Amino acid sequence: MGLEPFTPGDSIFENEDILRDSHQPETLLEREDELREYQSSLQPVINGARPRNIFLYGQTGVGKTVATDMVIDRLQTDQKKIDNLDVHSINIICKNLTSSYQVAVKLVNQFRPKDQRLPSTGYPPDTVYEFLWDHLKEIDATHVLFILDEIDAVGKDDNILYELPRCNDNGNVPPEITKVGVIGISNNFTFREQLSARVTDSLCDEEIHFPPYDSDQLRSILHQRAERAFISGVLEDDVVPLAAAIAGQESGSARQALKLLFKAGDLARGDNAKAVTESHMREAEPLIKEGKIKSELQSLPAQSHITLYALLRLHEKDNLPAKTGEIYDEYEKAASHFQTQKKTDRTIRNRLNQLNLKGFLTVDEKNMGSRGGSYYVYQFGVRPELIQNVLENIDRVEV
Ligand SMILES: Nc1ncnc2c1ncn2[C@@H]1O[C@H](COP(=O)(O)OP(=O)(O)OP(=O)(O)O)[C@@H](O)[C@H]1O
Ligand SMILES: [Mg+2]
Repeated sequence: MGLEPFTPGDSIFENEDILRDSHQPETLLEREDELREYQSSLQPVINGARPRNIFLYGQTGVGKTVATDMVIDRLQTDQKKIDNLDVHSINIICKNLTSSYQVAVKLVNQFRPKDQRLPSTGYPPDTVYEFLWDHLKEIDATHVLFILDEIDAVGKDDNILYELPRCNDNGNVPPEITKVGVIGISNNFTFREQLSARVTDSLCDEEIHFPPYDSDQLRSILHQRAERAFISGVLEDDVVPLAAAIAGQESGSARQALKLLFKAGDLARGDNAKAVTESHMREAEPLIKEGKIKSELQSLPAQSHITLYALLRLHEKDNLPAKTGEIYDEYEKAASHFQTQKKTDRTIRNRLNQLNLKGFLTVDEKNMGSRGGSYYVYQFGVRPELIQNVLENIDRVEV
């Protein structure tokens, strides 16, 4: 059979990029109160005073990153007009930085030219922090704001969230030289609960919560984007309300709602349909749900994949839920099988904790009765077949 010729033209989308995650909307609808709160938390910076540290939290897809980008852009524009104020902002996404050490290295490297960057291992942690304080003292700015997005990646190893917000207080960076503020952003409620008391004390001067959107809010957000994304008239009236209802009920996530809308449009385009209909949306729904879990699974680090592989083997033998020690034994076999370097028991515990935070595993605490003490048992939080399917498609893990 011959191929169809490639021809430019699209009968559905005017500009599909407008529905993408990376598209920055001009205005943020339905977030007026949160934006006001956010701006007022940053007011001390504009006044030349010491920043307050901010912890911003809320479920995935509720506008934390996009709101932060907008607020910081605005702060940067406005501060330029103010004498004796020079605010430098450093925004990093901590995804895949699974320890405070890795975050500290990444921050140091933000101040350095390419040929002087630190490697990801090798320096004692104290030295890395010293480098960071030196850069902060040397930088020609009145304020440095660190924005640590997706900070939950560090899990229990949250020392950086203690050191950085307190560096002005404990003499590491005198505030007369540079005033330092931290904005930590997380979509993980377990992480927030697990922050050590000393971190909560230093990081959370101000806590801002972004609640999930309800269906009405999602409808207005989707209408705003759909207007420019679709060719006029192709979107049937019940499509946006249906996407908003599905996402509103399931997650309250604007990202999920936008993905549903894009997928329905994409299916309509694939069908050469003249319009995007409710049935395209019904077809899009299950595709988006599985796709989300799969892409999160794919993006995990190698050691997490091997840990999941070990859990799959235990599942096959009907040995789940399993204790950490049992999982580690199976992990060791898996690491030999894949000829990768075996990580320590502690690293794997850390991985298990991360997998639990991300919802791929669930954990239960068991008490040992009269003997006292307790231990944890893990099992899958999503369908094991889904994990099997993802691992099969990753080169380094031949299932
Ligand atoms: N109020 C809104 N108006 C328009 N678009 C929005 C709004 N809120 C979120 N979005 C869009 O939804 C998507 C997800 O938003 P964002 O990336 O800010 O979520 P998040 O809270 O940072 O999620 P995560 O915790 O997963 O990082 C983005 O494409 C963003 O542009
Ligand atoms: Mg985000």
